[in-house]
Amino acid sequence: MNILAIETSCDETSVAVLKIDRKNLALRAINTSSQIKLHAPYGGVVPELAARRHTEVIIPLLNQTLKQSQINTGQINALAVTGGPGLITALQIGVETAKTLAYAWRKPLIPVNHMTGHLVSPFLTPGLWPKVFYKAIWPAVALIVSGGHTELYLMKSLSQWQLLGHTLDDAAGEAFDKVAKMLKLPYPGGPEVGRLAEFGNSQAFAFPRPMLSHKNYDFSFSGLKTAVLYTLKKYPPLAISHQLTANLCASFQQAVTDVLIGKTIRAAQAYKAKTIMVSGGVSANRYLRETFLQTTKKLQGPINLLFPELKYTGDNAAMIALAAYVISNNGKNLSKYKSSWKNLTAQANWELWN
Ligand code: KG4
Ligand code: ZN
Repeated sequence: MNILAIETSCDETSVAVLKIDRKNLALRAINTSSQIKLHAPYGGVVPELAARRHTEVIIPLLNQTLKQSQINTGQINALAVTGGPGLITALQIGVETAKTLAYAWRKPLIPVNHMTGHLVSPFLTPGLWPKVFYKAIWPAVALIVSGGHTELYLMKSLSQWQLLGHTLDDAAGEAFDKVAKMLKLPYPGGPEVGRLAEFGNSQAFAFPRPMLSHKNYDFSFSGLKTAVLYTLKKYPPLAISHQLTANLCASFQQAVTDVLIGKTIRAAQAYKAKTIMVSGGVSANRYLRETFLQTTKKLQGPINLLFPELKYTGDNAAMIALAAYVISNNGKNLSKYKSSWKNLTAQANWELWN
């Protein structure tokens, strides 16, 4: 089947056409328009500007993607759209566009939780798709680390998941971004902290590892961020050298990595997971990937370690199309979504576990 998906939950407008069945997955076309330059002068996403830009680019992106997919609208079996969570002003553009298309083209419209998209994104990797139905993959423990969320799930199959824990305050990506701001690094800050950390000493500062020793699977990154701020305040502005900044980045990144990996591995062992999946924007972080790899290698017994390809770590419509396939029971329940254009609304706080 062919699924056309739209994602506008934050600052990327993305449209994709995915051709998928139980054996094969092929991305026919994807176009993603980033708003980084638009928001950079403000040091963060401005909701009103984000919405305006989504409105400007969504129709051209749709046209371009359809053209590149080399199928006509008659060959589209379903539409999918991110319904939440995210910025309400941004979500609404995608949702209203998708509803209009569903009405005009008479197509089923599948609302997708953004986090389900991140959850399944590792399976967009070529060659991995049919393996998703093998018993050797499940159960899996899945860590989602993005700008708005840090969540740990137990997955019994691609469509059965259960929340183990989540952040009680800041998300991991948010902490990266806030530390970058304190250090006056260019926007967007997360990747910049990761880049600078490569030149720093990760043992230079003994930052806390919040909740690492707690028996639950929840996270907290707000205190760690504050610890970086207090350390920074001890130095007069002129003493903040490039090396000091790199050391702060490396020590902070080490603390986040220790907590994320420590909790994920503990969950994987407790639930006898055969696979660990790590996705979301922060899963692009090179040090996090490398440390996960080294740590899982040392574990007893083989464990699969899956990340999305770098191009699918951030927000994109390909993962939304794949999630729509999964939640519609491999396309078998499409009739359920025939009239969803009538009453679908964007939900800024749509949590996956509710
Ligand atoms: O998943 P995503 O694109 O959007 C949300 O759903 O939030 O995640 C964006 C987050 C941002 O906080 C960004 O700074 C962070 O992912 N990020 C990184 C890296 N690349 C993106 N954080 C650390 N290291 C990176 N290389
Ligand atoms: Zn995201």
